[in-house]
Amino acid sequence: MKKIIKIGLLGAMFAPTTYANQNALTDMDFHNSSSEKIKLGQFLFYDKILSGNLNISCASCHHPMAGTGDGLALSVGEGGKGLGVTRDTGSGIDAIHERVPRNAPHLFNLGAKEFVTMFHDGRLTANPNYPSGFDSPAGDALPPGLDHSLAAQAMFPVTSTTEMAGQAGENPVSDAATADNFTEVWRLLTARVMAIDEYRDLIHQAYPGLADQDVTFVHIANAIGAFEATAFRADNSRYDQYLRGEYSPSSSEKKGYKIFKDNCMSCHSGPLQTDHQFHALGIPQIGPGKGDGLFGYDDFGRERVTGNNDDRYRFRTPTLRNVAITGPWGHDGAYDTLEGMIRHHLNPEQSLDNYDISQARLPPRDDLNEIDGVIHSDEISRAELKARIELQPVNLTDQEIVYLLDFLNALTDSASLDMRNTVPYRVPSGLPVAD
Ligand code: HEC
Ligand code: HEC
Repeated sequence: MKKIIKIGLLGAMFAPTTYANQNALTDMDFHNSSSEKIKLGQFLFYDKILSGNLNISCASCHHPMAGTGDGLALSVGEGGKGLGVTRDTGSGIDAIHERVPRNAPHLFNLGAKEFVTMFHDGRLTANPNYPSGFDSPAGDALPPGLDHSLAAQAMFPVTSTTEMAGQAGENPVSDAATADNFTEVWRLLTARVMAIDEYRDLIHQAYPGLADQDVTFVHIANAIGAFEATAFRADNSRYDQYLRGEYSPSSSEKKGYKIFKDNCMSCHSGPLQTDHQFHALGIPQIGPGKGDGLFGYDDFGRERVTGNNDDRYRFRTPTLRNVAITGPWGHDGAYDTLEGMIRHHLNPEQSLDNYDISQARLPPRDDLNEIDGVIHSDEISRAELKARIELQPVNLTDQEIVYLLDFLNALTDSASLDMRNTVPYRVPSGLPVAD
């Protein structure tokens, strides 16, 4: 039996090292959906039917057995084979053309209503001035009717040639994606899904009264969003239990919390430890980049969205829920240990200069490896990255870092350690569920 202590009493006993005056998260803080919609979304999330070449699903890069990421620094998109850290870069004509330029983030708690902005650079965000209700890379092509930002996000991976659609000439979906004709990508994939009787039945159960000809990819995206919001909700960590008055933190967790409050909470704020803003930390740039800077291998982050030079190298502050199980860390997965990521925050310039790229989990292929380190080993690019760093160096002892890690570990929901029950045995298309 856990010791139940009233929050007020605990606060008085352990002030000032107790946790913040925060309310525990409740159902009201999350988007909720019908079980029919969630079931449909679960199948779609694991079904390769949504990829141009029928060879990759959302789960390939966001697998519950890899903390809803893929365990790699940079994802391997369609054409690769295998799951998680065993994934390879594919072979023959199917082999990948490049790595995905950013780390696949985990999907924990993104169904919380406070998450209105998606992606490392925030390129999708709720905005009532747009007919669809969202400012996104699809502009006016994004249809109305999307439930929330998480659902809106699910419209996009299928339009990416590297992630899910495939290369030009390989299939009609990839041809439409290459031409940036998102509407056609969504139409083709919806037709594919609706051609499967089981999916048609599931869609009618999830959306009663909807005629066949009115089904669009919006219904698919809303179902996927409903599944992600429910299956990957993770708000029963020791931290949450403390906020509900059900857990008394250990002395080292409390010390860690105090260090966190003093040094981290200006950005990692609120119940999910994020201000949802963008900051430049000087995380080493690895991989093929987003077409910016030297040879196009750099990634200017938030500037790519706003066009504002002040936003160069800024990335969104991630939530730290479940952070101990969602490595590698950083927008490009540059750091393979949580401690390495934290030490970077404490002395970013030194950490950047001393960065050892051999730690980056990148399935090897000679021509890809050659590109991976180009920006990091270029003095000028690195100096520009350094000049933008917003963090002030902080001196912490090794023991204090251990305390901080203890607090971050208290943000792990133990239910997220075993999510086998979110994986279906089969999917309606009959395509293999593995990898
Ligand atoms: C090839 C790997 C890959 C596949 C397949 C993939 N993703 Fe992702 N996902 C990523 C990467 C990489 C990012 C980060 C991109 C960025 O921020 O620029 C991402 C970002 C996201 C985000 C935003 C998370 C956040 O914190 O902002 C969500 C949600 C998401 N993906 C869900 C999905 C869904 C749903 C599917 C299937 C329809 C899917 N992904 C397919 C790699 C993948
Ligand atoms: C100036 C704002 C700011 C402060 C202060 C800050 N962080 Fe961060 N943190 C960020 C941003 C932004 C990122 C993402 C950077 C990137 O990927 O380029 C991040 C990333 C992280 C990550 C990686 C998460 C992931 O999913 O990859 C961890 C862990 C982390 N911070 C912990 C801390 C700790 C511990 C402290 C205090 C010692 C701290 N942060 C202080 C802004 C901040």
